[in-house]
Amino acid sequence: MTVKNKPSLAFRKNHDEIYQGKIPSKYTRLVPYIKGNTILEVGAAEGVLSLLLAQTKGRVIGIERNEERYLEALRLQKAWKLQGKKVDNCQFFNVDIINNLNLLQDIDTFVAIRTMYYFKENMDKIFTNIAKRCKFIVLGGNKNRAIEYAKGNYIGNVAENNYYASSAGMTEIAIQYGYVLDHVISETSGEDPLVVGKKPIQKASTLPEYRLKDSLAPYLKKLNLISKESEIEVIHYKTIELTVDEVLRKSRNVIEECHIVFMGLYKQYGRNFDYKNTVYWKRFVDNGIDKKKIEEKINGFFDLYDSIRKDGFLMHKKNPVIVADLKGIMSDDFIEKKWRYHRCNGTHRLAIAKVLGIEKIPVLELIIQLN
Ligand SMILES: C[S@@+](CC[C@H](N)C(=O)[O-])C[C@H]1O[C@@H](n2cnc3c(N)ncnc32)[C@H](O)[C@@H]1O
Repeated sequence: MTVKNKPSLAFRKNHDEIYQGKIPSKYTRLVPYIKGNTILEVGAAEGVLSLLLAQTKGRVIGIERNEERYLEALRLQKAWKLQGKKVDNCQFFNVDIINNLNLLQDIDTFVAIRTMYYFKENMDKIFTNIAKRCKFIVLGGNKNRAIEYAKGNYIGNVAENNYYASSAGMTEIAIQYGYVLDHVISETSGEDPLVVGKKPIQKASTLPEYRLKDSLAPYLKKLNLISKESEIEVIHYKTIELTVDEVLRKSRNVIEECHIVFMGLYKQYGRNFDYKNTVYWKRFVDNGIDKKKIEEKINGFFDLYDSIRKDGFLMHKKNPVIVADLKGIMSDDFIEKKWRYHRCNGTHRLAIAKVLGIEKIPVLELIIQLN
């Protein structure tokens, strides 16, 4: 899509200086916050920040859907090149990010300055893709929009999306898509707000692929289908919906007498029942777990029940219920008599779903092959 518009005030006011390579602090103040070697800036406008980043980064992509601004960015790139600046590693595209999410491939850092409040109904699709690929996000807001929003006034034509011009709105998005906050500058600082997020480093043992292989390998080895865990290859991930009964086919008997009975008692009596007289409690005791730890676990189980009852069974972004379809891997006999979906976590959540009468749940399916 091509939209026509005139250059931003900051660019017009400092046009000659910018062409000579003297950059206003509006742009330079952002550079120290932008980590990573490959950067994608959306809403790159006249290209000043993207070209500035190109001086020190490996590769920069600047996306701008407004044609005039994009053309201005190309002119600036040419001018800086004539001055001997490093700009060939910066590429501009006159496109809308929503139709070009593939450009996020191999990007370390997503940057959007005074831009994300325009994403509107595309916010979720854009950030879902960013969250899958980018280690860092740098979101810049607009102090005037943010301050007016807090007073109930909406500047421009983005209505309540002005919330995303504020540090609170940008923080909410960063956290919702799995980033931890590295820096937050509020609009009350007198400058434009800024939110810098980074992906937490996940321990290998909590990664879906690791968990699935670890849980499935013993079964495959026992049936002589593999000799080493590394022979299981995960080729694809997808989110699907399955019935709770289908997902519970694996280990159903144990979960039934242990977790489901326990949650049934909670449903009936609240926290007022004798936990020590349950299989759930006894199993922990038999495994040598200390009484205080068991009580902590029980309270966590109750809290989980309350939150699923209140909000429904949601797909947990960091810790989804993970399954692999064994059709074509195990024999038809195994699938008929044992289970088709090999589940490697989520016992507590499934027991709660069963007790609450939830029929279907979202799960993360790992498509596997044996090599
Ligand atoms: C307010 S300007 C900010 C420009 C620059 N980042 C700055 O801080 O001066 C927002 C820019 O984002 C661009 N933009 C908004 N949504 C976009 C999208 N979905 N894809 C590409 N560009 C977009 C607009 O055309 C506009 O030039």
